[in-house]
Amino acid sequence: MTDKTVDQLTEAEAKAELERLAQAIATANAAYHTLDAPDLTDSAYDAMKQRNAAIEAAFPALKRTDSPSDQIGAAVADGFGKVAHAVRMLSLENAFEDADVADFDDRIRKYLNHSGPLAFTAEPKIDGLSLSLRYENGLLVQAATRGDGEVGENVTENAHTITDIPQKLTGAPAVLEVRGEVYMSHADFAALNARQAERGDKTFANPRNAAAGSLRQLDATITAARPLRFFAYSWGQVSEPLAATQYGAIQRLADLGFQTNPLTVLCDSPAALLAQYRLIEAQRATLGYDIDGVVYKANDLALQARLGFRSSTPRWAIAHKFPAELAWTTLLGIDIQVGRTGALSPVARLHPVTVGGVVVSNATLHNEDYIAGRDAKGQVIRGGKDIRVGDWVQVYRAGDVIPKVADVDLSRRNIDAQAYVFPDVCPECGSPAVREEGDAVRRCTGGLICPAQAVERLKHFVSRNAFDIEGLGAKQVEMFFNDADLPVKAPADIFTLAQRDAENPLKKLKNRDGFGATSVTKLFAAIEAKRTIALDRLLFALGIRHLGEVGAGLLARHYSSWTAFEAAVTHATEGTPAWTELMAIDGVGRTMAESVTAAFQNPAERAAIDALVAQLDVQPVVWRASTDSPVAGKTVVFTGTLEKMTRAEAKARAEALGAKVAGSVSAKTDLLVAGPGAGSKAKEAAKLGVQTIDEDAWLALIGEA
Ligand code: IVH
Repeated sequence: MTDKTVDQLTEAEAKAELERLAQAIATANAAYHTLDAPDLTDSAYDAMKQRNAAIEAAFPALKRTDSPSDQIGAAVADGFGKVAHAVRMLSLENAFEDADVADFDDRIRKYLNHSGPLAFTAEPKIDGLSLSLRYENGLLVQAATRGDGEVGENVTENAHTITDIPQKLTGAPAVLEVRGEVYMSHADFAALNARQAERGDKTFANPRNAAAGSLRQLDATITAARPLRFFAYSWGQVSEPLAATQYGAIQRLADLGFQTNPLTVLCDSPAALLAQYRLIEAQRATLGYDIDGVVYKANDLALQARLGFRSSTPRWAIAHKFPAELAWTTLLGIDIQVGRTGALSPVARLHPVTVGGVVVSNATLHNEDYIAGRDAKGQVIRGGKDIRVGDWVQVYRAGDVIPKVADVDLSRRNIDAQAYVFPDVCPECGSPAVREEGDAVRRCTGGLICPAQAVERLKHFVSRNAFDIEGLGAKQVEMFFNDADLPVKAPADIFTLAQRDAENPLKKLKNRDGFGATSVTKLFAAIEAKRTIALDRLLFALGIRHLGEVGAGLLARHYSSWTAFEAAVTHATEGTPAWTELMAIDGVGRTMAESVTAAFQNPAERAAIDALVAQLDVQPVVWRASTDSPVAGKTVVFTGTLEKMTRAEAKARAEALGAKVAGSVSAKTDLLVAGPGAGSKAKEAAKLGVQTIDEDAWLALIGEA
């Protein structure tokens, strides 16, 4: 992360940082959700999400199609059945400061154009994992984890073993999905870890991981032996409403036999919410289970329905997080990690220290300037104190993701401590590591000859939004990369794996540890299936610096076919018509254009790309609207007074249905929705022959009348 504030970022820096954040957050998500093994603190994770959101707000055009703001959790892990949630399981927007709470109230009022009383519930945010329980005719028929919000893991058998979860309900709606948090108490966690250690089994980093690891067991008898608990706080599909208010619904869940949190209260103002926040915060250490904030929800369910959802969070709720946790420890050493684009990232190796319940032994040091006590512009940070091996450093953690070194205690520094010298050669391949002007990061210039870059690029190549090859993830890529018999050093090698394996009479893949005949057949079939790939995915998968998913989509839609694209970028150099055309694409800037052409014009890179494409059938990309709603792909303008919804509400609904909402009428406008008092826009629409309808007709059109 650069130390620049968002308003100091140039567009190129913002874009690069959004890319970096998307990657870092995806990695953290995978570690957190799929592997049950966090490597980052919660507040560091939140800080990344927050910074990502702030950059997106400042540079809306740069928002990525794989933006972390739109994503919840992670995909279902192998081995579990999949459950498509009848109603999506969402995430919550975070608030960190008191002012964010007043803002939350304000935004709701504006969105609804509501000035009367507005009540909220406040309740602890339990630090566990969410679970959706489906009851049909009073019987627990299915339990599913959140997964990516749309599809979760089927853990029904496991849920049957949890005492807090009623197996049968009396007087419940015919269909009722109860949602809440599975967690483990501090006492149970300590006892479990002691038992695990005694038996020589793995211990858990924190209660959340213990809960996740215990629930997500393919063998339900293991879950049964683990002391899991459950708090109900929400619901999914219901055949009839539980109540008219959030508070009433929670009471109803309690009446049905669920555990609900005793610290749930009704508040009539932001000030009352903050008072409850302080009260819960004061009790945090003595609750006996982990909480990481307080959740506020609009109480009136009719208002909740009107407020609706953004892409992954409801407008009617917010999680007010507790501040980050800090600890002091010694810096044992600084390691340098080399990333996909050659960035050298310094990692602090720390004397292990517990920060907010989690043992931390690594933390990020960002970049060489950060270590030296300045930001990328040369401005002093941390009072100019540099960080040296052997120093006492303050580690900052905020939740469950990458901790960072925040401060250093000079009074405890050894007199012979040496200032850290950042390497100017790549520790992995020995190539010069250089820092371009304006870049906070030093990069290895080894390109494909650098094993670290090559392997990171392969990981990116097979990642979810790139080739997404089932059975070929980061772990397998790393294994094949170092494999003497079936090496995969570059993407093209993936597509020759099956043939090379067939030609090798000895050492068949199916005879290796971790493989078998079925899994090898599956893997080869999965690879085969991805020989046919859309141009935009291919371009994104190449892992070219400054070319994220949005850029890849723009290029693919503009050139449509591989042949046209390849011809253009091979010849595009400043001053040529091909260059002018490339730069004229809306959304393509100089940084991206230079990076893409440089990659395609570099002989070694190009050879690797050509070898890959020779293995593939690249599909052209055609532009299509994203949904099949009647207004998808249409440009809509709202004017005049809307009586059944606010302007913001109308805009959000239209956009959710795939429409583009414009501020003024032009020849490109497909539809004008005009309320009473419509003036010049209605006239303009009439002149241009743009179809004009009233609010009721609009609601009928989108099926909400
Ligand atoms: S309400 C549509 N209430 O926090 C909103 N979530 O960061 C549904 N969580 O996915 C969530 N305690 O796993 C809600 N009292 C609470 C919660 C809570 C913990 C978790 C839940 C959610 C995550 C979002």
